[in-house]
Amino acid sequence: METNFFQKRRSVLARKMLAKTVPDEDLKKILSAGIRVPDHGALNPWTIKVIRGEKLKFIDEEIILSEFKKENPNANKTQLEIESKRLQRASLVIAVLSTPVEQSKIPEWEMILSSGAVCMNLLSCAQSLGYASQWLTEWYAYNNKMLEYLGARKNKDKISGFIYIGHKTEEPSERKRPDPEKIISYL
Ligand SMILES: Cc1cc2nc3c(=O)[nH]c(=O)nc-3n(C[C@H](O)[C@H](O)[C@H](O)COP(=O)(O)O)c2cc1C
Repeated sequence: METNFFQKRRSVLARKMLAKTVPDEDLKKILSAGIRVPDHGALNPWTIKVIRGEKLKFIDEEIILSEFKKENPNANKTQLEIESKRLQRASLVIAVLSTPVEQSKIPEWEMILSSGAVCMNLLSCAQSLGYASQWLTEWYAYNNKMLEYLGARKNKDKISGFIYIGHKTEEPSERKRPDPEKIISYL
């Protein structure tokens, strides 16, 4: 079989990204292709928030660092330094929220799966254009202040992921992949 993009696709750790600007033209391509996902009932049960520019620093300081300090009053300087720059590791971060439609015949589980598909598609689209990208949640995807800031409905919506996009400083090395024989069987 010919080697194609999907056989080589690899994430780049957010901490290894270079946070240079991503041209609007590329961001538009990533977003428009990224939302072309299977979606039972065409409900669009997901919402996307693009975080870039000053907002990366704002969220890092006013939400992530501030919430971390509240939950970890004895944190040391190194920890605080890490938490103060979480989103700023990337050029931009795309937050994908699972926002299930209520009173639908479509099972909620399928709506949640579709939001995961949006994450994977955004990740692949960014990587296909040569960008460094990683799908992360980390503790702050489950933080109420973060959920509220991103407009999530309480006890209904969830953050499916933050898609970090930046520039590569080097090609990532391969990681251990599952053994197909162990997880795939033919009936
Ligand atoms: C929903 C989800 C959340 C994740 N959250 C984290 C995280 O918080 N921290 C982390 O180190 N990796 C996390 N990962 C894993 C990274 O995306 C990891 O870099 C990825 O498995 C690399 O695989 P790839 O090269 O096949 O893209 C998460 C993955 C998924 C699917």
